[in-house]
Amino acid sequence: MRGNGIYSPAFVSGLFDRMSRTYGVINYISSFGFSEIWRRQCVRRIDWSEYARDHLTLDLMSGMGECWHLIRDRSATRIIGVDFSGEMVKKSLRQAERNSLAGVTVLQEDILDNSLGSERADVIVSSFGLKTFDDVQLQALAAEVARLLRPGGTFSFVEISVPKNFLLRPLYMFYLQKVIPVIGKYFANDAYSYKYLGIYTANFENAERFVGYLSDARLNAAFQSYFFGCATGVIGTKPLS
Ligand SMILES: C[S@@+](CC[C@H](N)C(=O)[O-])C[C@H]1O[C@@H](n2cnc3c(N)ncnc32)[C@H](O)[C@@H]1O
Repeated sequence: MRGNGIYSPAFVSGLFDRMSRTYGVINYISSFGFSEIWRRQCVRRIDWSEYARDHLTLDLMSGMGECWHLIRDRSATRIIGVDFSGEMVKKSLRQAERNSLAGVTVLQEDILDNSLGSERADVIVSSFGLKTFDDVQLQALAAEVARLLRPGGTFSFVEISVPKNFLLRPLYMFYLQKVIPVIGKYFANDAYSYKYLGIYTANFENAERFVGYLSDARLNAAFQSYFFGCATGVIGTKPLS
C-alpha cells in the first residue's frame, strides 16, 4: 500500500532507522513516562488469562519490542513482532536477548504487504504505530487486522492523539510540535526527525476513524481514551461467525 510523501514506506522506515539510536529514551522523557503507562494499559485491555504458549500474539509496528515484556508478564503466548525499520528490528532482537525473552520472533516487513497467514493470530496488540498511516492505509490496516485474526481473536491499539479539551489541546500540541523537536535536537542532535511526531499526530487526530474502519471490516471495535484523550485507541474482537 504505497502512501505518498511522509506516508510512503521508504520515508517512514527511514525516519525510524534514523531515530532508532535515541527513540527509547526520548520517547520516555518527552512523554514524562506516559508512553510506558499507555502501553501497559493497552496490553492490559486484553484478557490474557485465555492465552498460553500455544497461542499467537502479533505485535504490529513493534519498534524495539517495547510491548513484549508487558505481554510476557501476563502470558507465555508466542509473539511475532512486525516492523519494517531494519534498525528498530535489530534493536528489538538485542533487547529480547538481553531480557531473555523466549518465544519471540520478528518479521521485518511492511504490515500492509506482509507474508503472515490468514486467521492465525489469537491476539493483536500495537502501540504508537498508527499515526504514520494515512487514511487509505488505515483502512487497509483495518482489513489486515480482520484477515490476520482468528474468529474470536482480540485486539488492542493505542496511539498519541490530539486531546479535545480546549485547554489541554493547545498546550499538548505546543509541546509535541515545538518542545519535542528541541528535546530531539539537544538529546539526539536530530530536531528534523523529531518534528514529525507533531506533524503525524496533528494529522492523525485520534483513533475514531480507525474504529470506523475496523467496524467496516466487520470487527467489533470500541474507542478507548487515555488521560483525557492525550492518547486514544481501540479494543475489540473478531466475531466467531
Ligand atoms: C512510534 S514507533 C512505535 C514502536 C513501539 N511499538 C512502541 O511502543 O514504542 C512506530 C514503529 O512502527 C513502524 N512502522 C510504521 N509503519 C509501519 C508499517 N507499515 N509496517 C511495519 N512497521 C511500521 C516503524 O518502523 C516504527 O518502528
